Amino acid sequence: MKEPYLTRFKQLIQRGSASRDIHDAGDAAQAPDAAAAPASEAFLMREVNRVQMHAAGLCMLLADHIATAAMVLDVGCGTGGTTVALALSALAPKRVIGVDADASTLEAAEVRALGHDLEPEKVSFQHVPAGQPLPFASGSFDLVTCVSVLEFITSSAAREQFVRELLRVLRPGGYLFLATPSPFRLRDYHSRRFLGDWRRTPGHPWSTPPWVIARWLQGQEHVPLAVYRVKRRRALRFAGPFAGLLQWAFPWQQWLVIRTDGPNETTGTGTG
Ligand SMILES: C[S@@+](CC[C@H](N)C(=O)[O-])C[C@H]1O[C@@H](n2cnc3c(N)ncnc32)[C@H](O)[C@@H]1O
Repeated sequence: MKEPYLTRFKQLIQRGSASRDIHDAGDAAQAPDAAAAPASEAFLMREVNRVQMHAAGLCMLLADHIATAAMVLDVGCGTGGTTVALALSALAPKRVIGVDADASTLEAAEVRALGHDLEPEKVSFQHVPAGQPLPFASGSFDLVTCVSVLEFITSSAAREQFVRELLRVLRPGGYLFLATPSPFRLRDYHSRRFLGDWRRTPGHPWSTPPWVIARWLQGQEHVPLAVYRVKRRRALRFAGPFAGLLQWAFPWQQWLVIRTDGPNETTGTGTG
């Protein structure tokens, strides 16, 4: 990120605009107040480097499965790490819109985009309060991404409705990429509480099991990612036959579906 935007971005993060990513606090007990705590240089750089992280992970995966995507929506964009990475990616989007329920992150997201020479005509950000429908017509986007958001929505019913909404704004034949931590871990990904995904303490994120997400995505065409993901890990390259099982041992569940004209046509009533 170039100056003067980098300095401005760090100032905004210091003031509490960081993407809510509770494990960054390094202390589960402080988790709900993580954004308010004074940020260390390591924390700031982690936030700055989200673009590189997503370029190497999310964008590589998408570029390997999707040719191009003109209209892209990034739901739960936080400080725009995912949004900016997508805008700079080989998907060559014409327009990328990032939305988030936390308005305080979006000023940092705008500064981040400018720091990467992305003008508001190409990358823009919008506040959408949690529980509200996405303010876009059905079928508006070629690609909808949602990275590390689902686990922060409180109830399973609200998550299901949220996923319906993601599908609604996607054009038939468009792609939805959804990433959320795997619940098959002794400590949950964000707050690192023992069996946290299954204890579901109010105020803490928890992961939805894959069979529930599969039910929500029923009727859509699934892009099989298991072999791809396993082969990308050097040490697991020859474990192909076990890819389906091994993928659940990874920290993140990753879903890539193509919207069909299935049962998810209805306009959603809320996003979480
Ligand atoms: C860990 S951050 C992820 C940011 C970004 N996608 C990334 O991976 O770098 C999670 C974001 O989800 C947002 N969020 C939580 N619930 C949401 C909802 N119902 N609608 C939109 N955004 C939501 C939070 O405000 C937060 O910015």
